[in-house]
Amino acid sequence: MAERLHDQTPRTGGETLISLKGVSKNFRKNSKEITVVNDCNLDIAENEFLVIVGPTGSGKSTLLKLIAGFEAPTSGEIRVGGDIIKRPGADRGMIFQEYALLPWRNVLKNVELGLEFKGSRDEAENRKQAMKYIDMVGLSYAVNKYPVELSGGMKRRASLAMILVTKPKILLMDGPFNALDSKTKMTLHTEITRIWEHEKNTIIFVTSELDEAVKLSDRIAVMNKTGKISRIFQNDLPRPRMGKAALDADFHNRFVKLREEVLNEVKAGAGKAVCEY
Ligand SMILES: Nc1ncnc2c1ncn2[C@@H]1O[C@H](COP(=O)(O)OP(=O)(O)OP(=O)(O)O)[C@@H](O)[C@H]1O
Ligand SMILES: [Mg+2]
Repeated sequence: MAERLHDQTPRTGGETLISLKGVSKNFRKNSKEITVVNDCNLDIAENEFLVIVGPTGSGKSTLLKLIAGFEAPTSGEIRVGGDIIKRPGADRGMIFQEYALLPWRNVLKNVELGLEFKGSRDEAENRKQAMKYIDMVGLSYAVNKYPVELSGGMKRRASLAMILVTKPKILLMDGPFNALDSKTKMTLHTEITRIWEHEKNTIIFVTSELDEAVKLSDRIAVMNKTGKISRIFQNDLPRPRMGKAALDADFHNRFVKLREEVLNEVKAGAGKAVCEY
């Protein structure tokens, strides 16, 4: 794991795992057909960390739901490992913009649920695994609390642990760290990078924060208000990108430059849409 953390080669040269070809999604809104995802073409490599940014309403969540298999494309196709996606699968774990916890189960029982869904019946092992991931997201002190007793940030961490414990090959994360305080966010940036390095999963991560995008990504895809991917930025900043490394002047300059370029692209594609970047 340590070598991987210091491995500076981009991961985007690997085998294609997820492939989107001409993917569009229309919805009916007030008896009008609207195109929300518009002719998206994208190949995502195995163990790539792809971040998607774009103004509100540009179709980011819809694109993730299409890859998860919760929605079907109106046209085009999405393949994972060569097979067309028809429905959700255990290979793809999605962390929604809204958290999804069962109110009658405490944190531990909610996280164990992820394993129960997967069919793991060994209660002692399930508990051990659940505790490991609850600890990883910094929630050990709240294992016995029920969702109603948790803050927004705690609910997000519990949802994260619930998905991580199932070790999905593909992690689809829709603004998982939105609205968290900056200290928790920094801890989770380090943790998600470590998990990704260690478990070698492929991550597609939506965010509205460009610092987060530059910190985490191998590439950054920008969606615009027409639902198109307007540009994809390669992020060759060396890893690790947190802690001491971020203090290096050259690193800092490159970081700021890339963030600026992405910001300009997002703004250019926002039109009159609300641009919170
Ligand atoms: N099931 C649906 N039925 C009708 N319209 C929908 C549906 N889901 C999404 N939309 C519309 O599609 C557009 C894109 O929504 P989406 O949630 O994908 O955007 P987003 O980029 O994730 O925005 P945000 O940054 O605010 O989360 C919006 O106009 C939304 O109202
Ligand atoms: Mg969204």
